[in-house]
Amino acid sequence: MEDSFMSKELRTIFWKGNQVKLIDQRKLPSKLVYISCKNYREIAAAIKNMAVRGAPAIGVAAAMGMVLAAKSVKSKNLGKLMSELEKAKNVLASTRPTAINLYWALERIMKVAREAAKSEDAKEVAQRILEEAKKIADKDVETNRAIGKHGSKLINNGDVVLTHCNAGALATVGYGTALGVIRAALEEGKSFSVIATETRPKLQGARLTAFELKMMGIPFKLITDGMVGYVMQQGLVNKVVVGADRILARSGHVVNKIGTLTIAIVAKHFGIPFYVAAPTSTIDFESKPEDVVIEFRDENEIHYVNRTRITPKGVKAINPAFDTTPPELVTAIITEKGIYEPSRLMEILSLA
Ligand code: MRU
Repeated sequence: MEDSFMSKELRTIFWKGNQVKLIDQRKLPSKLVYISCKNYREIAAAIKNMAVRGAPAIGVAAAMGMVLAAKSVKSKNLGKLMSELEKAKNVLASTRPTAINLYWALERIMKVAREAAKSEDAKEVAQRILEEAKKIADKDVETNRAIGKHGSKLINNGDVVLTHCNAGALATVGYGTALGVIRAALEEGKSFSVIATETRPKLQGARLTAFELKMMGIPFKLITDGMVGYVMQQGLVNKVVVGADRILARSGHVVNKIGTLTIAIVAKHFGIPFYVAAPTSTIDFESKPEDVVIEFRDENEIHYVNRTRITPKGVKAINPAFDTTPPELVTAIITEKGIYEPSRLMEILSLA
């Protein structure tokens, strides 16, 4: 089962029949199972409860949720279809506030729907949405391969690369962003190893990145989040590559999984390059750092490990899911269009 997941054909998320199939990432690494979503509310729930997670993957899931919303409208009334799409868009957009890919994908679908609605009937509009969602999914894999190709130039024989959270095939439709860079370097025959952080509280590093690195057959070791300072001070790491949930082009700030900021500060202290790998769909060309909504999740994610409470009853915890790393800590951003210093990201807007 594991081999087939890493093969080229299988994807984290895909459209089948009249349903959306997603790997239930909550069950990994012990079980690789797909869940089927039959309507957009099930997709919204899967995003919220993190059955599907990772910025690009939630964007694609939301786009497919819009297809389910369109298909659920049996009447030929175009007005009814458009109002159902607006409703679905609002529900899907309210699931997780930080990753911009979610809004980017929903906007792309709505744009296609509005355009098609000018001249087509309801059935044709639904068909165009399906085609657009499939296009977004296919493009995701292609984009990640391009990120990998650019990024692998930064990886040398003998490197030890630290990564945080999971920015792999599971966080996308396939191939991955930060792990895509690692995978591309491996495919090019480079010899290097990886250190992955556990990533409390949801353990995306321990559960998902470790699962993917094992499948790739790359040498790696896991550390807990608190060990980052130690491994950098001891010279056990010489590069960092992480993904992103939102990159602010105007200022160069990078919003990513909680703990990324700490890693970037320590990397700067020890002179270790800190790279961010992400598709241009993760770039926000408008917002300022203060505009970004950082998701706060249920504090029970911190109090409980599996179902066992590890903190005394009555203790309070805070659970921000993301943090913002300022541009002076970021060496470069690897996109499908090339490698950019954080101060040059606005140039991407002028590319075709
Ligand atoms: O809370 P998650 O697991 O959705 O957070 C995921 C991350 O922070 C990833 O680093 C980011 O989405 C990039 S995934 C290619």
